[in-house]
Amino acid sequence: MTDRPAYTLVVLISGSGTNLQAIIDAIQEGLPATIAAVISNESSAYALKRAKQAGIATEVIDHRMFESRHSFDDKLAAVIDSYRPQLIILAGFMRVLGKSFVDHFQDRILNIHPSLLPDYKGLNTHQRVLDDDKTYHGCSVHVVTSVLDSGPIIIQAKIRIKDDDTAGKLQQRVQQMEYKIYPAAIRLFAEGRISIVENNIYIDGECQRLPILVTEED
Ligand code: GRF
Repeated sequence: MTDRPAYTLVVLISGSGTNLQAIIDAIQEGLPATIAAVISNESSAYALKRAKQAGIATEVIDHRMFESRHSFDDKLAAVIDSYRPQLIILAGFMRVLGKSFVDHFQDRILNIHPSLLPDYKGLNTHQRVLDDDKTYHGCSVHVVTSVLDSGPIIIQAKIRIKDDDTAGKLQQRVQQMEYKIYPAAIRLFAEGRISIVENNIYIDGECQRLPILVTEED
């Protein structure tokens, strides 16, 4: 037994929550963290069911109920703060967060993006990679800054594109890797091994010039 308090997460979702599930499963298997709440901007998101099944508090904050992006962000920040998390995990959260929100939680928000950033920021990454006839694709866990999909990258997973890959098949293959690298990134924080200084990632005190790279063989 350790008397160190569990590392507290709040997870933001909008959809099915398979990444949320991977994090819940990783915690059950020993990842030293706890999810204080799952917050959705969509009341029908399946991820809310997953959270409830795991006994995790849920909140719905519907962005359509707010006059402006700013007022939504302010409410979201206040609800997150009420759970006092150390880290905020974006797991398929389909809202862009404004600068004051990001500044409020500086270096404490992570996102998972389905591409080998800095390539293919934005949406429809799987189809865009196929259209460009690329050899490799993947996913990235990065720190959120106020520039979309551009914060420091902690860990990436790289897969080789197969001849018969479609956007749907690629999405599935990439997601299998997401379920590995998101809990791995959270573990670095929960174990106190990572710090971020002026947009540089330090792991065990060493500045990382490149993200950690995971492949399908790992
Ligand atoms: C993930 O594939 C992730 O790359 C992207 O949104 C998707 C969310 O899927 N950011 P899920 O809700 O975790 O199933």
